[in-house]
Amino acid sequence: MAKDDDKRLAAGAAVAEVADGMLVGLGTGSTAAFAIAALGRRIAEGLRVEAVATSEATAAAARAVGVVVRDFSTIATLDLTIDGADEIDSRLFAIKGAGGAMLREKAVAAASRRMVVIADGSKRVAAIGAAKVPVEVLPFASASVVAALERLGAAVAVRAGYVTDNGNIIADCHFPAMPDPRALAARIAAIPGALGHGLFLDEVDAAYIAADGNVTRLER
Ligand code: A5P
Repeated sequence: MAKDDDKRLAAGAAVAEVADGMLVGLGTGSTAAFAIAALGRRIAEGLRVEAVATSEATAAAARAVGVVVRDFSTIATLDLTIDGADEIDSRLFAIKGAGGAMLREKAVAAASRRMVVIADGSKRVAAIGAAKVPVEVLPFASASVVAALERLGAAVAVRAGYVTDNGNIIADCHFPAMPDPRALAARIAAIPGALGHGLFLDEVDAAYIAADGNVTRLER
């Protein structure tokens, strides 16, 4: 089965959790796009929900299918967030941010009572660590942050020509090994000028992963 069919299946399983009256967080990326489309179909059938978007692209896609998108700066708590991932393991540790939206994604996920990752089977790994960890960097501090990330052992590539929705840059970090994701997350978070990173270690409550047409649910 094609990867897109699995993304669509995983997205549909997560959108089935959405109930009338919910405030829903909408992730960013190609898998989240299937969830937005599925949510739009449910709204057309009568579901009443409002949403928060984790990127400008997602906000536009959501509005295009009839979703009311609210300003996250006025919202303290959401009911459910649905988002993709670059890697996810059975601890529900995830790496996110290949799409560059992980700072907003993590803020929305952390404010959500429940956060569900949707993914095709290629994202499921025994232990996260092979994917690049994106770090959102204050441009003013770019050289010092990159040097600090290199001191943590990363091979760092600044994403060429890319500016986040927040006006910052992304440093993609490849770590040769990731024996202790929590320690690494704490060390990245402690770098002044590193505004956020793609290690999601506490945010994910569940995952729907579809492979060859079969959906598996992982629950924390
Ligand atoms: C966006 O910044 C990312 O966190 C995405 O959620 C992640 O990269 C997965 O994207 P795809 O669903 O496009 O693979």
